[in-house]
Amino acid sequence: MPLLHHVLLGLLLSLHTPASSTATDTVSPGHALAGSDRLVSNNSKFALGFFKPGNESSNTNHNTYLGIWFNKVTKLTPLWTANGEKPVVDPTSPELAISGDGNLAILDHATKSIIWTTHANITTNDTIAVLLNNGNLVLRSSSNPSKIFWQSFDYPTDTLFAGAKIGWDKVTGLNRRLVSRKNSIDQAPGIFSVELGLNGDGHLLWNSTVPYWSSGDWNGRYFGLAPEMIGAVMPNFTFVHNDQEAYFTYTMYDDTVIVHTGIDVFGRGFVGMWLEGLQDWLINYRQPIVHCDVYAICGPFTICDDNKDPFCNCMKGFSVRSPKDWELDDRIGGPTDSLEDKREMVYSRIGKA
Ligand SMILES: *[C@@H]1O[C@H](CO)[C@@H](O)[C@H](O)[C@H]1NC(C)=O
Ligand SMILES: *[C@@H]1O[C@H](CO)[C@@H](O)[C@H](O)[C@H]1NC(C)=O
Ligand SMILES: *[C@@H]1O[C@H](CO)[C@@H](O)[C@H](O)[C@H]1NC(C)=O
Ligand SMILES: *[C@@H]1O[C@H](CO)[C@@H](O)[C@H](O)[C@H]1NC(C)=O
Ligand SMILES: *[C@@H]1O[C@H](CO)[C@@H](O)[C@H](O)[C@H]1NC(C)=O
Ligand SMILES: *[C@@H]1O[C@H](CO)[C@@H](O)[C@H](O)[C@H]1NC(C)=O
Repeated sequence: MPLLHHVLLGLLLSLHTPASSTATDTVSPGHALAGSDRLVSNNSKFALGFFKPGNESSNTNHNTYLGIWFNKVTKLTPLWTANGEKPVVDPTSPELAISGDGNLAILDHATKSIIWTTHANITTNDTIAVLLNNGNLVLRSSSNPSKIFWQSFDYPTDTLFAGAKIGWDKVTGLNRRLVSRKNSIDQAPGIFSVELGLNGDGHLLWNSTVPYWSSGDWNGRYFGLAPEMIGAVMPNFTFVHNDQEAYFTYTMYDDTVIVHTGIDVFGRGFVGMWLEGLQDWLINYRQPIVHCDVYAICGPFTICDDNKDPFCNCMKGFSVRSPKDWELDDRIGGPTDSLEDKREMVYSRIGKA
């Protein structure tokens, strides 16, 4: 049966011929990542690559970012962004590579100029970058995996990964905090943040200075003002406080569940869960519960009312200063009239996977 034989042979070959796009979890010298290439963690849970936020077909965004997202979540949800403040601007085509000094860098493919780098002090000549199964991107020695020079978990964006820490390394002074994105397209840091005080209470802050929500003290199981943290659909949160560290972290009770927790562009902390059947995120928890409890959520000369849609409206005699920013969920300039519609911005990857 030569036909069947050929089909089988073809199938075997296609299974065993590594295409150039075969997923790997590693960037090494001479093996850069470019275009629509992706790193995929060995457990297939996380992917890393270049993406362009916004609606692919409306084509109004010209900025590309390097990010990490859940590989199996169909609604591209950036969890970490390397170059939020330094987007790659069209028509530059970027590549992610180990640069001459051993750091991981985003380079302009044509000129090889550096757009972003990990800026670590490298003491070996054999660095590689690996996307681990927990979503942490580490730059380490290839011969000695315990020699880690830099890791994305130390520089979070707006998301707390399971197993990552938010809070203080008291020895080095490193303070890991989450910062909202500027809006749903612009991945630059926004005005809201979450951080842990050295005493271990969590705060949501406006412009790094004005606290507008506090977690209360850790009582061994949850923060005093956030008892909802131990609900049935919540992950296993823990607070650790000792001489060296003060941090908040969590583990998953069930590794097959996909949980997203962090701070949104509206300045609210949240815990969400991916519902495969719905193909969408279900938000189980938010703090503050209402938008209007977020400090300065609507910007100057506005009135906030959660019972209205939109919840921000101009005071009599004022109009929106920057309708474009407002549409993209950046309210510092003033309101617009279709906020809810615009909240669910879609993200598109570079090229088709
Ligand atoms: C990757 O996962 C496979 C199983 O899917 C396992 O056999 C292999 O050891 C893993 N590799 C690493 C480097 O962890
Ligand atoms: C993307 O933009 C196009 C054209 O503006 C529009 O027709 C389409 O509905 C948009 N898609 C989404 C998912 O917003
Ligand atoms: C690298 O080393 C220099 C000099 O020892 C130090 O000042 C700097 O903070 C180090 N950078 C990092 C990222 O650790
Ligand atoms: C890296 O350094 C080692 C010595 O520490 C040396 O033997 C090796 O040749 C170097 N490799 C490269 C590629 O420079
Ligand atoms: C945030 O704080 C900085 C200084 O800490 C100040 O320069 C800036 O104007 C503030 N931003 C806003 C929107 O008020
Ligand atoms: C919850 O997390 C704590 C601290 O990491 C751990 O000791 C405990 O075993 C976890 N509980 C479960 C049920 O996984």
